[in-house]
Parts: sequence; C-alpha cells; structure tokens
Amino acid sequence: MVSIAVMGHGVVGSGVVQILLTHKQKLFSVIGEEIYVKKVLDLREFPDSPISDRFTKDFEDIINDLEIRVVAEVMGGIHPAYEYTKRCLKAGKSVVTSNKELVAAHGAELLEIARQENVNYLFEASVGGGIPIIRPMNQCLVANNVDEVAGILNGTTNFILTKMIEDGMQFEDALRLAQELGFAERDPSADIEGHDACRKICILASLAFGKHVYPDCVHTEGITKITLEDVKYAEKFGCVIKLIGRVKKLDNGKIDIITAPMLVPEKSQLANIDNEFNGIMVRGDCTGDVVFYGKGAGKLPTASAVCADIVDCCMHLKTRRFLFWADGDGSNIISVKDSVFKMYVRANGSGAVAKAEKIFGKIKSIEDGKRVAFITESMPLCEFEEKCEKLTGEGIEILSTIRLGDL
Ligand code: HSE
Repeated sequence: MVSIAVMGHGVVGSGVVQILLTHKQKLFSVIGEEIYVKKVLDLREFPDSPISDRFTKDFEDIINDLEIRVVAEVMGGIHPAYEYTKRCLKAGKSVVTSNKELVAAHGAELLEIARQENVNYLFEASVGGGIPIIRPMNQCLVANNVDEVAGILNGTTNFILTKMIEDGMQFEDALRLAQELGFAERDPSADIEGHDACRKICILASLAFGKHVYPDCVHTEGITKITLEDVKYAEKFGCVIKLIGRVKKLDNGKIDIITAPMLVPEKSQLANIDNEFNGIMVRGDCTGDVVFYGKGAGKLPTASAVCADIVDCCMHLKTRRFLFWADGDGSNIISVKDSVFKMYVRANGSGAVAKAEKIFGKIKSIEDGKRVAFITESMPLCEFEEKCEKLTGEGIEILSTIRLGDL
C-alpha cells in the first residue's frame, strides 16, 4: 500500500479523490499495490465525502506523517502551495500538481529541490488538462530538437470564442457558463486576459528549450477586445480567431514567445478545436508536426492527469523520473517589438485601402464603404506600429489589430 495525501478539495482535488476511489482496482492492477488516500487537506468540511474522516485542516498532519510518500497539490495559487510544496519535497515526499501558476513561477527551483532530495515533482495536469503533453514532450519526443510549440491552451477562452462564433452568445454569458461548468479559474481574469495560457506556454517553452521562461518576460494579450465584427471579417479571410500561446526557436538560438489572439487559417489543425478543448502542436525536427487534442479543462480530465502522475510517483518511489530544466533570466527571449507576424487590421475612413496600400505595400483587403479590414505582409511589430501611426496620420481610424498565426 502506498499512502498519499491530496491538498485541496476543489474542482480538481475532488476529482482526484473520486478517480482514486472509483478506479481503485484498475490502479491496483497497474501498480500491484493499493493507493491509499490517507489525508485530504482543505479548510472546508465535506461531511458527504466517503472519506470524510480523513480530512484535515492542518498541513502539519501531512508533513509529519512519514507514511505519506506522495502528495497531490491541487490547491491552486502561489501561496501557500509554494511553501507546502517545498516542505513536502524537502521532507522526501514526491509532489504532483495541476498548479500551472506555481510551476510557471517557481518550476526551476522546485525541480532543483526535487533533484537534490531524490524525489519527483511532476505536473502533467498543469498544461492541457487531460491531454498528455508534458510526458510526451519529455520522453517520446526527446530525440527531437523542438522548433516550435503552439497551442490553444485555455479552455475557458476557447469555450467563450466558440460560443460567440457559433451561437452569437454575448461574452459575459459565455464566461458565466464556462464558470458554471468548472472550466474557469477562481479569478477568471487570468483566463480572459491570457495569463493562464501564458503560464502554460511558459511551462512548455521551459521544457522544450531547457531554461525557465518566466511569464513576466512574455508579451500577453487576452480576448476581451475581440468583437463579433472581427470574428466575421476573420471568416471572410478564411480564418477563425483563437487565443494562441506560441514559442518558436529562431536561427540565432533565441526564442520568440507570445500569448495573443490570432487569426488562424481554417486549414490549420488548430482552427477546428472548439469549446473547452485544447490543441497543442509540437514541431520537432525529426517528427515534423505532432498535434495533441483533448479536454483542456474540467474536473475529471484534469484529475485524470494528476492521478497518472500519482501512479508514476508510486511506481518510482526510490528513483527519479527525469524531468528538469535550468533557471532562466530571459536573455534567450527576443523583444516583442522584433517579433514578426502578418497583421490583420480593421479600420474606418475614406480611401482607407488606397492609403493602407501606400503605407503597408501589398495587402489583402475587404472593403465595405468606409469600413475596411486588411491583412499585411509579415513584418516586425515595431515596423507595423510605425506604419499604423502613419495610417492614423492620414485620417484613418484603426479599430483593431490582430496577429495572423502561421500555424
Ligand atoms: N481555467 C483553465 C482553462 C483551467 O480554462 O483552461 C485549466 O487549466
């Protein structure tokens, strides 16, 4: 029997307990031992839980219990999850987590502590919910040099965009529905402002390129400025709007990383990923494109990934799973101003197309009286911004700008 603890009994934590109880026999047949949930940490009472007698409000009950070898941290947020995780690792307990905020903020440090203590720190559930992505990248694709990773990494925003596009639903109504379905973060601004997707692409970038990428080094935009008008123009250009996290290796060895809404061509594999589903494309130099698809949010999909890490830890109590990256200082990341994209522009004003052609050169445009949308050739953001200023100087009002994802 391997004793474990679960810290947090929210959406994911209750899913972890549920799976461990309902899939007990299946997991026993895999490990050859029972996984026994000895303690569940939460400040709330859960009298209806079948293991209500094992709940505790005191972290010391877990850290001081020598029988507990594996701890699932599914509390979310940085504090006290960071302190608890550190103490568990230092006490020789392996830790698994779905906490992308913590991994993105302190992953390098926690991985180093796990290495020193000869225990495991695993976080399959931190990116892509139920989709296997950390382990495949770390093991199955390890023989590749990764050139690019791009994905739809946030279920809430993908759900909102899908409802806006397909049902004409208002932004607020779609967000409320996503919250009711348990997809959204406690503070949904982390979803809609792009921070959650940013944390996830930071984790994948750290894994792919071996150096920690901190979220505050990454240009991040959310979906709050996307309008139904943009959605319709995107369709006319043969695209859909998706919130994309993308990191690309450049010829000079640096990386170009961003989280932003993008127009994705309909033929792209990422264009047809809807609702709370996530999709992640990994471009390896040997494999070419490999695409991972599945439910990126929700109780049981995410809990399934946490449970897989628990099983992995239980099967490797005395050995380390190799998962590591070094600390980073952001010096390997190019400035967003140098990042090159084709750009979509929606504008308003007399003679907008002629003026845009004069300033931007070759463009693809759709004109509707004074209203116009156009797509430029590829250029660095600094050049694009200069040209936009010139267009504004010609009396054209720029209503929105969105990157075109070459995906
Ligand atoms: N709020 C997150 C999402 C949950 O919507 O994708 C899963 O990380």
